[in-house]
Amino acid sequence: MTTRSWRSRARRALTAVGTTAVLAAGLLAGTATTSQAATQGPCDIYAAGSTPCVAAHSTTRALYGAYGGPLYQVRRASDGATRDIGLLSAGGYADAAAQDSFCAGTGCVITVIYDQSGKGNHLTQAPGGGAAGGPDNLANAFEAPVTVAGHRAYGVYVAPGTGYRNNRTNGIATGDQPEGMYAIFDGTHFNGGCCFDYGNAETNNLDTGNGHMEALYFGDNKSWGSGSGNGPWVMADLENGLFSGVNRGFNANDPSVDNRFLTAMLKGAPNRWALRGGDARSGGLSTFYSGVRPSATGYDPMHKEGAIILGIGGDNSKWAQGTFYEGVMTQGYPSDATENAVQANITAAGYDSGSTGTGTLTPGSRISLRATTAPCCTSHYLRHNDTDSKVVISGTTSSSPAADKAGATWIVRAGLADSSCLSFESADRPGRFLHHYDYELYLDFDNGAGTFAQDATFCPTRGNSGVGTSFRSANFPAKYLRHYEYTAYIAGNGGANSWDSGASWAADTSWLVAQPWG
Ligand code: AHR
Repeated sequence: MTTRSWRSRARRALTAVGTTAVLAAGLLAGTATTSQAATQGPCDIYAAGSTPCVAAHSTTRALYGAYGGPLYQVRRASDGATRDIGLLSAGGYADAAAQDSFCAGTGCVITVIYDQSGKGNHLTQAPGGGAAGGPDNLANAFEAPVTVAGHRAYGVYVAPGTGYRNNRTNGIATGDQPEGMYAIFDGTHFNGGCCFDYGNAETNNLDTGNGHMEALYFGDNKSWGSGSGNGPWVMADLENGLFSGVNRGFNANDPSVDNRFLTAMLKGAPNRWALRGGDARSGGLSTFYSGVRPSATGYDPMHKEGAIILGIGGDNSKWAQGTFYEGVMTQGYPSDATENAVQANITAAGYDSGSTGTGTLTPGSRISLRATTAPCCTSHYLRHNDTDSKVVISGTTSSSPAADKAGATWIVRAGLADSSCLSFESADRPGRFLHHYDYELYLDFDNGAGTFAQDATFCPTRGNSGVGTSFRSANFPAKYLRHYEYTAYIAGNGGANSWDSGASWAADTSWLVAQPWG
């Protein structure tokens, strides 16, 4: 379908159910229903407020009620072939099954995040810049699974080193022109590196000076500014500064926010800008700052250049991590009422962490893994430590502390490096996966070093002892997930390391897939 045809279908669909203003008014009045959410997207609301989207990016859902084009493109590892991932229906949710089948038996990365606005402002692999070389890494397509209104979808998991950019945009604010933007992030996935951003940046990948950017930042970087608590914070990256309020430094009104799904909003106009945020699953927005531009030279008037970045700083600083689900940029300074209606649409969309079912090895299922070695360990379960990232087995019963039970609970995921195998995400530390490093098991966010997906992928096989299931390492196929002296490893049946001991190897590498403790 051409851009023009889906846009005119969108107009017809909106006319059929009344005006966009009427729909937006329903949302403003808090009367949003699921069917309204399905017939109207955030960009319809911005358009009704006379601040239309000029970029609209999402790997999870349509951002216009009648958008029927592709959401993103994936490239698979086995043969380098690419495939557009679209929607289950116009205005609906991502067709995650299309990704699953295209990538089956291999891994996939996200190569393009399409712009739904019709402006052609697609995001692709960021090139090198002033701060760091490139091209940047592409996101693993399986690393940020969610459900939206019960439909499976995948977000954009930005490990350090990952970045997307478009330096030749159309319709994005330049100079001191007004604009708005929002993004939905995973509020539990962040770090202090510079800079997990989404928004307006330099067109040449260099730091060209104060006021040359206007982008949302999320994380706990304190180099330029901070808010109350220990972070993470939503801040504005205006170049050479992450702003939590009127000027650089500490601004108490910018709260720490760590909602699993977080709405972050930024807007700017001549000598005026505002920062807002809220829980993307319920409730409204709070205003963290609204007022004049920073007093330092260069920020009033602004010198916006109109490129779009995701996951990196304006000069390609690429040390940050985070997860992005959807975001838009507008022409014009949206009213608070329009943004509130957008937030109502977001909360009605129904983001969830995507666990369904229990006790099986189906992706989405919550499980616990019980050791089978007798007599020591048959009431021991695989669990991450609380105080470090090591993985152990420990005795767990119905009277164990809630934290122990939560730490022994895993969400089964499609294998990050091979979707016909499995990965295990911690149920209580979302976004962190079981992986091996130097053959020992740990729980971590992807550090972007390159082999994480392989190290986090395990292929289930019949239990080596004849009982239960064994989990073969995807990149060390002679080694299996094993407990040895109550610590977890990948281990061969005989080998150089103490945990490769042949004694009890078959039982130590055989696990029962159990009902989840948490
Ligand atoms: O403003 C913070 C960061 O400073 C920008 O993202 C980057 O371009 C510069 O290093």
